[in-house]
Amino acid sequence: WILMVTAKSPTNIAVIKYWGKRDESLILPINDSISVTLDPDHLCTTTTVAVSPSFRSDRMWLNGKEISLAGGRYQNCLREIRSRASCFEDEKKGISIRKEDWENLHLHIASYNNFPTAAGLASSAAGFACLVFALGNLMCVKEDLGAISAIARQGSGSACRSLYGGFVKWNTGYDVSGRDSIAMQLASESHWDDLVIIIAVVSSRQKETSSTAGMRESVETSTLLQYRFKEVVPKRILQMEEAIRNKDFTTFARLTCADSNQFHAVCLDTCPPIFYMNDTSHRIINYMEKWNQLEGTPQVAYTFDAGPNAVLIARNRKTAEALLQRLLFYFPPPGAELTSYVLGDVSIL
Ligand code: DP6
Repeated sequence: WILMVTAKSPTNIAVIKYWGKRDESLILPINDSISVTLDPDHLCTTTTVAVSPSFRSDRMWLNGKEISLAGGRYQNCLREIRSRASCFEDEKKGISIRKEDWENLHLHIASYNNFPTAAGLASSAAGFACLVFALGNLMCVKEDLGAISAIARQGSGSACRSLYGGFVKWNTGYDVSGRDSIAMQLASESHWDDLVIIIAVVSSRQKETSSTAGMRESVETSTLLQYRFKEVVPKRILQMEEAIRNKDFTTFARLTCADSNQFHAVCLDTCPPIFYMNDTSHRIINYMEKWNQLEGTPQVAYTFDAGPNAVLIARNRKTAEALLQRLLFYFPPPGAELTSYVLGDVSIL
């Protein structure tokens, strides 16, 4: 026999960024972060997990190519999920798995990203969220989504936020075990459904400095990061939560842009400096700033993760249409490949 579960998980984009760990192996952050989860139709990972007594070892394929599961991050997620597995019975198919059997049953995992891997589009976030969510379903894990998010976090920090749709907060937590360093939903995807997210893929090349290495170097060398996580982020988190609650786009946009810019300033303050944005990214920022100024009130928020691609959040559909036209005119592909999204949620297929 063979038992299978397929899940689909969208990526998420942080509007208040996670940058820096206080525990590298458990992946515990130095500050809270807030993100929006995109709709899963475009930018997502689809993962099928299968278990069968005929499988001889745990194996995984990413976009059709076999990858090693030896890394600590995969092993931590598999171990944590296995330790929470429950029994499974299907009399019709004659399948009976006891709780303790899961330890000895092997898994085959096939995962597909429908966007470039490691180009700063948070592929690891969708990937680990999807893997842990699918495994939790396969192994009948009874814990709530918060506890599942703490497992996904051990695959990649930002992954814990992809388990929820809409607006999501990842709490730093206090416990050394990391069990309170979990994600929670601030508002569902329908709460503020005027927003439209446009991603301008400026480059789909793999980034030179991974987020993991980059944030380690920033923790070790950036004094601005110390100031950021102690003085700046705690206030911004509260203001952002309020802006989301009240659908206050002006505050939302101001905080989102400021936080992205400070994150990239921290990267520059790192020794040696890290450059994630390129000239096109800078031109897009300039353009958005000027447009918002001309309009009087902000129409668009921009944010950039560990790569040059712009994530633009338009206040409504009308603005998004105008924005798309302008971007196509000023940054025609291949300068920037554009796609638009709305907010979404994770699902079992
Ligand atoms: C800039 O979650 O990819 O996108 O925990 O080491 O896997 P690891 O890092 P990762 O870092 C994401 C950093 C960011 C900001 C964010 O998503 O909050």
